[in-house]
Amino acid sequence: MSAQKLKVVLTVKLPEPVETRMRELFDTRLWFEMAPMPRDQLLAVAQACDVLVTSINDRLDAEFFAAAPESLKMIANFGVGFEHIDIQAAADKGILVTNTPGVLTEDTAEMAMGLILAVSRRFVEGVAIVQKGEFSAWSPTFLLGRRIFGKRLGIIGMGRIGQALARRARAFGMSVHYHNRKPVSARISDDLGATYWDDLDQMLARMDVISINAPGGAGTQHLLSADRLARLQPHAILVNTARGQIVDETALVAMLRDKRIAGVGLDVYEREPAINPELIGLPNAILLPHMASSTIEARTDMGDRVILNVKTFQDGHRPPDRVIPAML
Ligand code: 8YV
Repeated sequence: MSAQKLKVVLTVKLPEPVETRMRELFDTRLWFEMAPMPRDQLLAVAQACDVLVTSINDRLDAEFFAAAPESLKMIANFGVGFEHIDIQAAADKGILVTNTPGVLTEDTAEMAMGLILAVSRRFVEGVAIVQKGEFSAWSPTFLLGRRIFGKRLGIIGMGRIGQALARRARAFGMSVHYHNRKPVSARISDDLGATYWDDLDQMLARMDVISINAPGGAGTQHLLSADRLARLQPHAILVNTARGQIVDETALVAMLRDKRIAGVGLDVYEREPAINPELIGLPNAILLPHMASSTIEARTDMGDRVILNVKTFQDGHRPPDRVIPAML
């Protein structure tokens, strides 16, 4: 395989330096639209390439893999999350899957911290007042937010991003709590001064701020169900930079509307890119269009990871970021 260039098809527009390098290294076909590749085209291009470079926009399900030909050898996903890929079906078909871990950790944690600050201190409401020309006089009781210093942050999912957020939260004077499938090592939890909660319900009821940093997929679907959300304290805020499907969005809207939770900062949605219309316009909801890893640095590094994985495979070796069924 080493002498021959792999035939690589991109289903997503990548940063130009990444695309140029891919053209140099592989027999690469680019995708020039900002909109995702339509499904019928995805199914068609998969018939005639060695490697597909995909993103969260592509649904690589059992139907996709059933139709995939022997010639398709690898899915190199641009992104760390892989719940849109049927990993078992890929493995059954002998198709390699890779992702881009580690390179968007700090960016996503920055965004989570930013949302915690923005929701607690009501940045967006303040900006709107200035933009509408409604800032007429300073007042001691105007737009009161809540201090985050000294508050408890409960992190759901203490992987790389959860830990990066914990470090930032500590610097802001928050105490760090977390729920995870299992506790992190003593070295990490000592470093972060983090308290482990094996029972998520118990943690939810005691936190001032909750941040979701867990992977998506069947294992975390509606982890924050209506019942669980109801455990939050009325002054609590919730931030989600992970996956929308982790939260029951309908129940969350009702909580916000009834002021049973103080506010939310969301970067992801249950039926993305559709957003529950009831969320839009709520003053206590800061809504972003899935942009937590949207920095020049992260997107370039993600592209470099894709290149590394494909190049390693082209050279006849095992790519570093393989996703295998045992990771599900
Ligand atoms: C990416 C993400 O931008 O990497 C992920 O899993 O959620 C995002 O930050 C997107 O998924 C690209 O496919």
